[in-house]
Amino acid sequence: SGLHALAKAAGKLYFGTATDNPELTDTPYVAILDDNMMFGQITAANSMKWDATEPEQGVFTFDQGDVIRNLAQGNGQLLRGHNCVWHEQLPDWVAFGNFTFDELISIVENHCGTLVGHYTGQILDADKIRAEPFNDDGTFQEDVFFNTTGTAYIPAALNAARAADANAKLYINEFNIEFAGPKATALQNLITQLKADGVPIDGVGFQSHFIVGEVPGDLVQNFQSFVDLGVEFAITELDVRMTLPETDELLAQQKQDYETVINACLAFTECVGVTIWDFTDKFSWVPGAFPSQGAACPWDDNLVRKPAFDGIVTGF
Ligand code: XIL
Repeated sequence: SGLHALAKAAGKLYFGTATDNPELTDTPYVAILDDNMMFGQITAANSMKWDATEPEQGVFTFDQGDVIRNLAQGNGQLLRGHNCVWHEQLPDWVAFGNFTFDELISIVENHCGTLVGHYTGQILDADKIRAEPFNDDGTFQEDVFFNTTGTAYIPAALNAARAADANAKLYINEFNIEFAGPKATALQNLITQLKADGVPIDGVGFQSHFIVGEVPGDLVQNFQSFVDLGVEFAITELDVRMTLPETDELLAQQKQDYETVINACLAFTECVGVTIWDFTDKFSWVPGAFPSQGAACPWDDNLVRKPAFDGIVTGF
């Protein structure tokens, strides 16, 4: 039985995966991706990001994002938006723009409103309205948005997204907030402030890019401290990487790690679903981002299921 079917039976909305446009020419890969009992939800790994959707100011291109949207729709899979405002994968005109406060606020509003508006009614969660606002020490990323507007771009983005789609859940998505520490605390403070100000914020995305044997011991406790603020949450980008080469021991620990994460989601009605950041090592972002690491996904390079797959099954 498929992972999404198991997630549904456990009361979750979905089990899903990220995918990317260039991968869609791989027929055996797509055969697994298209199975809506395996994956009930899809996230575009790149093609809804700012550089892909507004490469020049005011010029919007949704062709690549629409390919992912059409695939999900055709398969009866949910879609998560990814993402609205982030300091990476920005076109130069934004990243190195010299804007006044008012100019950049209206650029953010226009981008988020147009992006979310294009997919109105088709996006389950407009995930990552703001992705990664913080540094690990809990200070704000000093990107063009923060440097120009302080934190004003955050409510601007959230309000514009809500105006464009009244029903999409709005999330802030982060990594290294899966354990207690200054970054998790900073995001909790931000959520508290947004709620006090009446700004729409529905959920937190825990990216969950983990390392084998290092799933945070306080995962459940930490989820609870976010739930206490009155938000739902999702595990949005799960993978569990290792220093290569893979060994039986590492793969066995990885199986346990996947199971632990699924169990932590099942501990909360507020955990709506789990998304893995692509399902096969063949297309994982990990080797490109972390030298000498990899093998982070539940399917191997040859699209064969690993022990990690069974860990997810056992977890549900
Ligand atoms: C990654 C993609 O998977 C890569 O293809 C791309 O080169 C870089 O971005 N956190 C996120 C995702 O929120 O958007 C990132 O995706 C992985 C880390």
